[in-house]
Parts: sequence; structure tokens; C-alpha cells
Amino acid sequence: MADLHKEIEKRRTFAIISHPDAGKTTLTEKFLLYGGAINLAGSVKGKATARHAVSDWMEIEKQRGISVTSSVLQFEYDGFCINILDTPGHQDFSEDTYRTLMAADSAVMVIDGSKGVEAQTRKLFKVCVMRHIPIFTFINKMDRDSNDPFDLLDEIEKELGIATCPINWPIGSGKNFKGVYDRNTKKVMTFSDTLKGTKEGEEKEFALDSEELLTEIGEDYKEQLEEEIELLDGASAEFDMDLVSKGQLSPVFFGSALTNFGVETFLQHFLQMTTSPLPRVSDKGEIDPFSEDFSAFVFKIQANMNKAHRDRIAFMRICSGQFKAGMEVFHVQGNKQLKLSQPQQLMAQERKIVEEAYAGDIIGVFDPGIFSIGDTLTTAKEKFAFEGIPTFAPEHFARVRQLDTMKRKQFVKGISQIAQEGAIQIFQEYNTGMEEIIVGVVGVLQFDVLKFRLENEYNVEIRLENLPYEHIRWIENKDIDLDHLSGTSDMKKIKDLKGNPLLLFVNAWSVGMTLDRNEGLVLSEFGTN
Ligand code: G4P
Repeated sequence: MADLHKEIEKRRTFAIISHPDAGKTTLTEKFLLYGGAINLAGSVKGKATARHAVSDWMEIEKQRGISVTSSVLQFEYDGFCINILDTPGHQDFSEDTYRTLMAADSAVMVIDGSKGVEAQTRKLFKVCVMRHIPIFTFINKMDRDSNDPFDLLDEIEKELGIATCPINWPIGSGKNFKGVYDRNTKKVMTFSDTLKGTKEGEEKEFALDSEELLTEIGEDYKEQLEEEIELLDGASAEFDMDLVSKGQLSPVFFGSALTNFGVETFLQHFLQMTTSPLPRVSDKGEIDPFSEDFSAFVFKIQANMNKAHRDRIAFMRICSGQFKAGMEVFHVQGNKQLKLSQPQQLMAQERKIVEEAYAGDIIGVFDPGIFSIGDTLTTAKEKFAFEGIPTFAPEHFARVRQLDTMKRKQFVKGISQIAQEGAIQIFQEYNTGMEEIIVGVVGVLQFDVLKFRLENEYNVEIRLENLPYEHIRWIENKDIDLDHLSGTSDMKKIKDLKGNPLLLFVNAWSVGMTLDRNEGLVLSEFGTN
């Protein structure tokens, strides 16, 4: 019991959110480096080859040299057991990216200091806010010319609507990057180039009022720093752990992942400020992570890891207790007792079979096709189901046409299974039956994945006809009369497979217009399963 508590207590499970190229991979590498999980920074992404070794499960991945699904990295550091959930970006951005955030207890937001808040960060941030999880900001690439730090904070506050509290403060940037000032210890850590992190940097620490600091950074920078500190102390939000925990205040750190500057201090502060696994809401109330009963929910299903079979791996986040290989658990949605076989875990990119895991950990189990996203598994006597995972708004839509109409059955089976895994969402015209299928995806790559998989796994050829819609809204009012809804000319009514009505729009402003025209109408960007 004491061990169980200790194991869970030391777990920190978080996701890193960012826009592509902000430095998420580089930062992750450096974290792993500190944890001793890898010897040389640079082997996480490792472009083409290394990546294929990790998830060589889909032809399309190989062809494009990208990772279609997200993974989890586990390593130990300073007495903590850290689980980093990867949120894929670039073209492989998908609903999985959002769903991964449902499994995290906190998020690290990486921002490129010369770019500020970018589109993908904004989208992922919304999901973090919905979950009220703590968000920590790392402003990266300070070794390059970056925007004014005050402007950056302003932008975060205005664009994302979260208050910020800088924990450290940069002195210059780019060629003139001198280091950071720690507001807590009132010391300056000076920057030295680490040759892209391959060499251990010589980080020197100086008291703010020391002569040595003046010699080190020069009078101009020292004066500027003093002015800025004064401004900061007067203007920025005070650190308040309670607000951080609620996701209303983001502690901000400046650094440079590539040169390994400020990364370890960030990791240390972050680990202290973030929480061990949080209780999760179920239909029977909150489930205590330290409970002896095992419980978990499925947040991702990855298909066809083994090309020869139509195998799937269901990734689940353990929410309470301990998992032991081969243990019997109750699958709530399937109303069935079952044995979890072949549990896997990713350890710095290597897939291995796990013998035990604890609340906070992510495991992947073999799925013969019985699990759906959001399903609950537990050993508790009193059964419960965790709160469902929302359906996230697709941004691209296409009409699917089947080329050989004789293969209707395979087509419906294939597309339904792929939708069940959560890679795509399927809809129908509001007034017709199954003949016309509209597919919605979060990232356009999923269209290719769909086409490829239907051909290769189900032997069905399809043609996709892109539709101009970019905005989807779930209708919250159950009693709304859709036939008399007064919409805009670019609005389209559709329904999901359960018959729930939804609206599609080409333009964002049409959403507001439709709300204005229909009193009492409530539209949502997230659907409930
Ligand atoms: P991502 O996972 O968020 O997409 O970003 P990634 O870490 O791959 O970083 C994107 C690019 O930015 C990489 O350069 C990386 O080396 C660089 N970078 C990351 N952190 C820093 C930093 O603190 N300072 C500077 N100056 N650059 C940084 P690349 O040329 O695209 O790739 P590579 O050939 O170096 O791997």
C-alpha cells in the first residue's frame, strides 16, 4: 500500500503543445537527456530512419516519412517518473492530437520567441482550457533574435486569455543573449554556447547586485535588466499556485532548448509545480488515483500495427491503482470481464512489454476490436464509467463516393471501423440515408489514410470530393426544430450516425450570424460521445 502510494505520487504525466518547429522535439530530447533515457540528444526524432524503427506500422508513414500516431515516452528524473505524451504536429495533426491531451495532467506550451502564439498552439490550448489543467510556458529559441519579452507575455494573455507569471526573465536575445534572471533567487544565470547541446555549457551564476555580473554582461544590459525587473514586479501577476493548478495562470520560462540553456531549471521547477495524477470524474463521482482498485480509460486506438492482421492497440491512461500484466479487468462498456494481454509501454521510443504500471502511466493493450475511445476498464467492485472523451471539431470535409457499388458492405464496415478508431468522423446528409457519406477530419492527412486503408485493408476504392466547409458545430438544444432554423447561405445541415443534428459552415462569421438569427440556439465546438 505504501509502495503503491509512493509510485503514484512520483508520477508526472504531461503533454507538450506547440506549433510545428517551435522546438518541442528538441526540448523533449533534452528532457530525456537529463533523465539519462538517451545518451545523445538528437535521437528522438532522428528524421527518417530512427523514426521508422519506432512505428513502422503503416505504409503511408514510410512513404511520407512522418509519424501518423502519437506515442508516449517514460523516463525517470530526480525521483520522478515522467510520462511525456507526444502531440504530433505538421501534416499529421489529427483528432488523436487533441485526444492525447485528455490523458495528460498538465501541459507544457512551447513558444518560439520570434514567432509568438501560433495557430496550432492556439487550438491545443483550447483543449487544455476546457480541461482546466495547469499550463506551463517555455519561450524557446532565445539564442535567436526574438520578440520583446513583454510583448510576448501580452500576446499570450490577449490571444489565449490566460494570465502569465514569468519565473525567469531573459537578458537580450540572439547574438546578444546574455542569460536569464531568476526572479525567485534573484540571481542571473549567464548563457554560454553549448554547441547545439553537445557540450555541457558552463552556466555561471551571479547575484544581481554583484560587480562580477556587471563585468559579465556590461552596464547597458545590467541597467536594462534592472528597469525590466522593476516593471515586472509592478505589472505582472503574482505567482499563485492555486491559480496555476486551475489553469488560470501560466508560469513562464525563457530559454533555448537547442543550446540546452534553461532546460534543466525549467524541468525542475515544472516538476515541483505540477501535480501527481489527478482524480478523474466518473458517473459515480471522482475516482481517487491512489485507490487500490485499478481503473483506466481508452484515449487512443491505433490500427494495424501488424500488417498481416487487422490488429489494433488500445492506448489507455491508468487513472487509479496498479496494473499487473495479465490481470483480469472489467470492461464497463462491453459489460465483460477480460484479461489485458500484451501490455506495452514506450520507453524512450522502444516498445517493451510491461509487467506493472501505475496511475498516471499509459499502456497499450492488444485490442481484438472490442474497445472504443473513452471506454472504462476497472477492477473496482462497484462499477463506474469515466466521463466520455469529447469529439473534436473536424476542419476539413469531403464527400465519399464508392467506385464499385457492389462492395457496399465492405465499404460500410471499413469506414465504420476506421471511424470507431477515431481517425475520422462520419456524417450523413440531414435528410437522406447512408448512401451519401460525409467525412470530417482534423488534419487533411487523414483523408489519405482513409483512402489508403479502405483500399488496402478492405479492398474498396473510393473517391473523395472536397467540400468547402471549415467549421462544424454541435447543436446543444435537443428540442431545436432544424427545418425552421434560419441559417446563412453557406450553412449545411448534417447528422451524425446517432442521428444528432450538426451544422457546417464555410465562414467563421456565419456561426455568429446563425446564433444571432435563432434565439436560444446553443452551438458547441466539442461533441459528446
Ligand atoms: P518541433 O518538434 O516543435 O517541430 O521542433 P524541433 O524541435 O524539431 O525544432 C525545429 C527547429 O528549430 C530545428 O531546426 C531545431 O534545431 C530548431 N531549434 C529548436 N530549439 C531551438 C533553440 O532553442 N534555438 C535555436 N536556434 N533553434 C532551435 P531544423 O534546422 O529545422 O532541424 P535540425 O536539422 O536542426 O534538426
